[in-house]
Parts: sequence; structure tokens; C-alpha cells
Amino acid sequence: MSASTTARYNDKVVRQFTLMTVVWGVVGMAVGVLIAAQLYWPTLAEGIPWLSYGRLRPLHTNAVIFAFGGCALMGTSFYVVQRTCHARLFSDRLAAFVFWGWQAVIVAAAVTLPLGLSQGKEYAELEWPIDILITLVWVAYGVVFFGTIARRRVPHIYVANWFYASFIVAVALLHIVNNLAIPVGWLKSYSLYTGAVDAMAQWWYGHNAVGFFLTAGFLGMMYYFVPKQAGRPVYSYRLSIVHFWALIAIYMWAGPHHLQYTALPDWAQSLGMVFSLVLLAPSWGGAINGVMTLSGAWHKLRTDPIIKFLIVALSFYMIATFEGPMMSIKTVNSLSHYTDWTVGHVHAGALGWVAMITLGSVYAMLPRLLGLQQMWSVRLIDTHFWVHTLGVVLYIASMWIAGVMQGLMWRAANADGTLTYSFVESLAATYPYYLIRLIGGLLVLAGMGLMALNVWRTWRLAEPVPETAVLPPAATAHA
Ligand code: HEM
Ligand code: HEM
Repeated sequence: MSASTTARYNDKVVRQFTLMTVVWGVVGMAVGVLIAAQLYWPTLAEGIPWLSYGRLRPLHTNAVIFAFGGCALMGTSFYVVQRTCHARLFSDRLAAFVFWGWQAVIVAAAVTLPLGLSQGKEYAELEWPIDILITLVWVAYGVVFFGTIARRRVPHIYVANWFYASFIVAVALLHIVNNLAIPVGWLKSYSLYTGAVDAMAQWWYGHNAVGFFLTAGFLGMMYYFVPKQAGRPVYSYRLSIVHFWALIAIYMWAGPHHLQYTALPDWAQSLGMVFSLVLLAPSWGGAINGVMTLSGAWHKLRTDPIIKFLIVALSFYMIATFEGPMMSIKTVNSLSHYTDWTVGHVHAGALGWVAMITLGSVYAMLPRLLGLQQMWSVRLIDTHFWVHTLGVVLYIASMWIAGVMQGLMWRAANADGTLTYSFVESLAATYPYYLIRLIGGLLVLAGMGLMALNVWRTWRLAEPVPETAVLPPAATAHA
């Protein structure tokens, strides 16, 4: 590689991932809206197998988590690691392989899931040949990320990189252990695990997918883009280190809270509950560290819609990480499990935290990637913020109410011990809330449409696209 190339960041791959974050965000959320509509109109798309709810639901979860979230994490991690290490990415070729390989995984998922090809493990539905491709891409991703850290020209490794690093290592471990299976054909395999062990492996994976994919990686994003956009250093760097070690040490043990009152040994269920309760502390400590970074610059909340996205994302993170520990308490879980409360919790995290921190970071990063001062329309970012926030509130509030109502109706008993309500009565009572959720989802999707327009117009302002020079070696890190 010539000296002139190493003196510039590899922003091409970051731009590619950023573009696909928006594209897959629109696609994944459109599928979310479609399945929300199917829950309100159950006969929608009746008779078309590949549009049936059971096939589209995993398509939605895979598209939003791994396509939208995955592209956002890979793109921002490549952006952040180069700028905080003052070094170009370790290998351009490998980085291009990570981008194209990941898109191939997504397309393979988008074809196989509607065809009904699935391992039947939640968030790990993809069949074994795709799992092998994921492994190869992930190893390449790790080599590029850690290789760039190794060639850094500052002594310190900025905390955002620690969070990204833990996400990369943990997801590799989770993916391989949970997907160990015996293939019996090109598109069919059987898990190595059976019974309660299978359930435990699956929810060790599922919970840590939340902990490391949907949380640690996005915290990496938070630790770079919140200080950057606020124009201030992290509120407490010391707290961010405590936050990191506490979070990764505790998350791994909380998985059994997904299996309360099942065949799992009772002690394991209680262990999951206790670790979940403890998890409140690092989660809130980290969130407060992020929010307090704005201290002395609160006025920016009035004028900068990107800061609004980032700070409101942290507020939803606090909501989801308060609610989660509560739901892991066995007696609370006996009410919430199987109900829409869980779905409300999921989307407080997914739409409130994951989506908002991503959208804020993309709006902050894209103009810089294109050599511009700001997005084409800052007002449109503000409109997006309000439309999105309203949509999320409608979504989660309707699901909370529906969930608690369902739990209470299912357990209500008459004096003679018979059930007060039939299941169908609880379903009928839920319908109005499904409509409110659908409206919320449509608002969120409309916001994504505004973002797509803004991104397209911004891109057009920046032809030809420039490359940014690498910062010189430094005695201390500055992000
Ligand atoms: C327009 C936005 C969205 C809409 C309308 C939507 C809608 C839905 C619906 C209807 C379900 C199925 C619920 C059920 O089975 O009862 C669902 C599940 C799910 N969605 Fe979304 N969603 C959206 C965005 C997102 C995003 C951005 C993420 C993640 C980053 C996400 C993650 C999930 C997950 C993890 C589940 C499975 C929940 C569970 O098993 O409890 N969704 N979504
Ligand atoms: C302190 C942090 C958290 C704890 C202790 C926690 C705890 C829980 C509990 C107890 C459940 C219900 C399990 C059940 O009854 O089946 C749950 C479900 C879920 N949570 Fe959390 N949660 C936390 C944070 C989050 C965050 C930040 C997100 C998203 C970004 C999230 C995503 C999910 C998902 C996707 C599920 C549904 C899994 C499924 O059944 O498919 N959680 N969580």
C-alpha cells in the first residue's frame, strides 16, 4: 500500500455500510409494519405461504437486528476505530470482503426465511451454510478491527473500542456455540443440544445477543458520538471503564430469565433473576455517564436534533434496562411472560435505544464522511426525531397496556375456580392496541422515509466524495 493511501482513512467501506444501514432499516421496519398489520387483519396475505406471519416475523427480526443493526455497528466501528487509533483500516481487501460478505448473508436470509427454511431457534434461524458464511465474515471483521487497533499510533485504546471489541468477541462465541448442529442436507440440520440443555444454550445466546449485539456495540457508538456531537469529553472516563467491565461480567449470567417456570433447574432460574437485578447498576451507570456528558451544554438539546436523537436514545435505554430487571423477577415474569408486555419491552430497547442511537450517529457521521458540514436538511432531521419519538411512544405504551391486561385476564378466576375469561376474549380486548401499535409503526417507517430522502440529497451535494487525512501520531488519544 502506498504512503498516500495509508495517509487517508478508508471511508469507502464506512459509506457503503452507512448507506445499507438506511436501506435495510427501511426494509426491516416495513416488514415490521406488515406483520403488525397482519396481527390486526389476520387474513391479510392469506393463502400466500411466503407472506405468512410465521415466515415474515423472523424476516423482520433478522432484517432489523442483523441487517440494519449489523451494518450500523460494522460501519460505525470502522469509522471510530480509525479515528481514535489515528490509523487506516488494517486491510482494505478484507474490509471489502466484510461488507460484501455481510450483504450476501442478508440476501441469503431474505430468500431462505420467506421460503420457510429455518433452524427454529429465535434470532439464530438461518441454516448451516449461511451460518458458516457468517463465521467467515465475522472472523474477517475481527481481523480488520483488531488489526487496526494493533497498528494504532496513539498509546491509549479509547473506551468506545473496548465496547466494540467485546461485541465482536462475544458474538463470535455465541454464534458458534449456539449453532453447533449436524447437517442432514444442504438446507436442513439438527442442533447438537436437546431438551432443557438446548433451551439453555438458546437463551444464553438470545440474551447475550441482546447484551452484546443490541447493547455493547451500540454503547461503543454512544461513547464516540455523544461526546463528539456535544463537543465535550465523556462525563467520567473512570466510570466508563467500570461500566465496561461490570456490564460484560454480569450480562453473561442473566440468560435464564427467559426461562422462568420451565424445566430449567430452579437454581438456574433464580441465578438469572439475581444477575438481571444487578445488571440495573452498570446499565444505568453507563446511561447516566452518557447523559451527563451534556452537562454544561444542555442548551444544545434545543437546537441540535442529532443530540436529541442521542440523548432520547439513552432515556429509552434507561427505561428498557429498568423494565428488564423488573420483568426478570419471577412473580412479575409470571404475569408478563407470553404477553405483549415483552414485545413492548423489546421495542423500547429496539426502537427507542438501538434505532435512535443509530439514527443520531448516522446523521452525525454522514456529512463528515462526505466532506460536508451538515446534512442537506437539519429541519428534516428534527421532523424525523418527532415523528419517530411519537411512533415509539404509541408502540410501546399500547403494548404495555395490552400486555398487562392480557396477563391479568388470563389469571382472573371466579370463586368456583373456573377462568373468568376465555383466551378469545383476551384477544378481542387486545385488538384496539394492535391498531395503535400499527399506527406507531407507520410513523416510525415514515420517519425512515424522511431520512432516506435526506441521505439521498446529502449524497448528491458531495460528488465527488473526498477522503479524509489520517491524524498524526499522538502521545494521548483524542477521539
Ligand atoms: C416500524 C418499526 C417496527 C415495527 C412496526 C415492528 C413490529 C414488530 C412486530 C409486529 C413484531 C411481532 C410481535 C409479536 O410476535 O407479537 C415484532 C417483533 C420483534 N421486533 Fe419489531 N418492529 C419494528 C422495529 C424493530 C426494530 C428497529 C427492531 C430492532 C432493532 C425490532 C426488533 C424486534 C424483535 C427483537 C422482535 C421479537 C420480539 C419477541 O420475540 O418478543 N423491531 N416487531
Ligand atoms: C438490564 C437489562 C435488561 C434485562 C435484565 C432484561 C430482561 C428481560 C426479560 C426478563 C425479558 C422477558 C423474558 C421472558 O419473559 O420471556 C426480556 C425480553 C427481551 N429483551 Fe430485555 N432486558 C434488558 C434490556 C434489554 C434491552 C436494552 C433490549 C434491546 C435492545 C432488550 C431486548 C429484549 C428482547 C429482544 C427480549 C425478547 C426475547 C424473546 O423472547 O424473543 N432487553 N428482557
